[in-house]
Amino acid sequence: MGIEKSPAEMSEAEAANELMRLAKSIGHHDRLYHAEDAPEITDQEYDALVRRNSALEAAFPHLVREDSPSKKVGHAIAASPLSKVTHQVRMMSLDNAFSAEEVSDWVARVRRFLALSEGEPVAITAEPKIDGLSCSLRYEKGKLVQAATRGDGQVGEDVTPNVLHIADIPQQLDCSDPPDVFEVRGEVYMEKQAFAALNTALMEEARTAAEAKGEEFEPGKVRQFANPRNAAAGSLRQKDANVTAQRPLRFWAYAWGAASSLPAGTQFEVVHTLAEWGFPVSPLMVRCADLDAMLAQYDAIGKARPDLPYEIDGVVYKVDRLDWQQRLGFVAKAPRWALAHKFPAERAETTLESIDIQVGRTGKLTPVGRLAPVLVGGVTVTNVTLHNRDEIARLGVRPGDRVVVQRAGDVIPQLVDNLTREVERTPYLFPDTCPECGSEAVSEEDEVDVRCTGGLICPAQRTERLKHFVSRKALDIEGLGEKTIDQFFALGWLESPADIFRLKDRKDEILALEGWQDKSVDNLLASVEAKRAPDAARLLFGLGIRHVGEVTARDLMKNFHELPQLRETAEQARDGEDEAAAELTSIDGVGPTVIEALGDFFHEPHNIVVWEDLLNEVSPPPYIVETLDSPVAGKTVVFTGKLETMSRDEAKAQAERLGAKAAGSVSAKTDLVVAGPGAGSKLKKAAELGIEVIDEAGWADIVAAAS
Ligand code: IVH
Repeated sequence: MGIEKSPAEMSEAEAANELMRLAKSIGHHDRLYHAEDAPEITDQEYDALVRRNSALEAAFPHLVREDSPSKKVGHAIAASPLSKVTHQVRMMSLDNAFSAEEVSDWVARVRRFLALSEGEPVAITAEPKIDGLSCSLRYEKGKLVQAATRGDGQVGEDVTPNVLHIADIPQQLDCSDPPDVFEVRGEVYMEKQAFAALNTALMEEARTAAEAKGEEFEPGKVRQFANPRNAAAGSLRQKDANVTAQRPLRFWAYAWGAASSLPAGTQFEVVHTLAEWGFPVSPLMVRCADLDAMLAQYDAIGKARPDLPYEIDGVVYKVDRLDWQQRLGFVAKAPRWALAHKFPAERAETTLESIDIQVGRTGKLTPVGRLAPVLVGGVTVTNVTLHNRDEIARLGVRPGDRVVVQRAGDVIPQLVDNLTREVERTPYLFPDTCPECGSEAVSEEDEVDVRCTGGLICPAQRTERLKHFVSRKALDIEGLGEKTIDQFFALGWLESPADIFRLKDRKDEILALEGWQDKSVDNLLASVEAKRAPDAARLLFGLGIRHVGEVTARDLMKNFHELPQLRETAEQARDGEDEAAAELTSIDGVGPTVIEALGDFFHEPHNIVVWEDLLNEVSPPPYIVETLDSPVAGKTVVFTGKLETMSRDEAKAQAERLGAKAAGSVSAKTDLVVAGPGAGSKLKKAAELGIEVIDEAGWADIVAAAS
């Protein structure tokens, strides 16, 4: 794609031509994506085409074509309702607190971050945390144009035709002068009674169907929803929106995403405006002046909980002032300006029927307790992780024991007590060999985990690594499921990630397997081919290097842009080069553990073979993160001396928001130094190196200009 002209510089004829090309091209990619499951371009590239189309149409409204892709939103989605939507503003999750003390710590952190003086109040809203699924509703000039689920926060699923059946969601904002763009966010949920009625109806339907076919009715096999949240999610995310129409879904509005303008300056007032525009908002939301008021509202909502017609699992606090929310920003996936205060966990008693051992991709043996099914806080629990050998010893559990299971919100159920510890029964013996490959299983000194020593001879470890590599958060290769990996692995076709990209040479062999047809093989190979230029951070995460999770992989790639650069620096750091170690350390979220893990990884010859083999098959484009248009994007900034209007953390967060890197020390790589009173050696060094130095007010100007 060449450099695009801004629509303002284009003649009508040029615009008309480009709109025609865009309509064709978007139509072509829609077909590849939805009908053939074989996209040729990335979601980002697709979105760029759609954005360009909208920009041109906005500038030349009379040129909007009958077959314009912008007109097809509803239609294209009706054909494939669960297509993907990239959120313009990321959908966040929330950090959790489980005690008043943690809430108090959070308030203190907020105050510190904003550098507030002692007497200055921080108003905070408190409202129920509803148990449903979040949804972003995009309104353009007051009209509902798109609805999307949260998905992974960046990319969700399109549920536009589905939400049209939710009466709580207005299709037109009740507002005389609606903003050009406003994305209302909130929770789609199902009331408790409706959930129970739905499950009863599903059971009845299955009974009637079985009877009609003259089959035996097996109630245990009927698929019911485990809780109202699953029921809401399952009902909304339906390919056939008519199914959604039959399900009584509801909606609460509590936040927003992209907005061309905001109707007010506080959380409380914007939410009230949403109510005026026609959205249900929680009547239990209040604005609190201090911690005592917040905790009082937490208690009040907790008391009201059993009588509410819907499920809630805590209280959400939000800093009321939006300018403060903006300054607080977010870390990883959650805003600093909000907190979920969860209600205490719910517990239930059941029998531990057996203990199974699972072998993970790092060889770790994880014991899993199989339970007699039990309802804990509305969810049926049948499995619990027992974590490790020590945990089993601590609880003294053996198959047959009566146990207490606990569930706190979204957290995986835990086994917290053994009620029949005193009863005589053979103790459980933790295996000392791997159940998958028979190798010795040992625990390293000071380590609680028992690991299979089989390494690459252990089939479980090898297949688990491959499964991780193709998983949703890593390369996300559709159509290459766990069963297929197990099967191809057993046939010797898949050993390392690069083999996935050579499956195309085995087309005939795959076709010869039972259950594969031309189309399914083509689809599989196409989804592999679609990942030839994968996202570098996902690729890195997919390699499963210890301590390099999703977020760390992204942080590393933001800094290095290309994988060979990362490898070079990691190897240099391992060889004791200070500058390389300093560069790694300067990356937020990277500390000695990650540096050591990277060093170890690249020190292992087998890993180098896997790495090089893989990079011969795929070519990830340089990893560049889109940032605000700012003069400091891509630059390295050092803050030194005393900052007077904000904390150091806030300054660093601002720098990151503007696409700059905040480093701790001044070096030849530094581009800008922000110096407050009392700056000493760093300021001197900056002067020696001839680096630009500004004061805090100068920095504030840069931030203001970019916001
Ligand atoms: S605010 C930027 N408010 O909780 C913060 N979320 O754990 C965005 N949720 O994904 C969320 N009730 O699905 C917010 N009153 C409430 C909520 C709420 C439920 C859900 C939401 C979110 C999840 C995060």
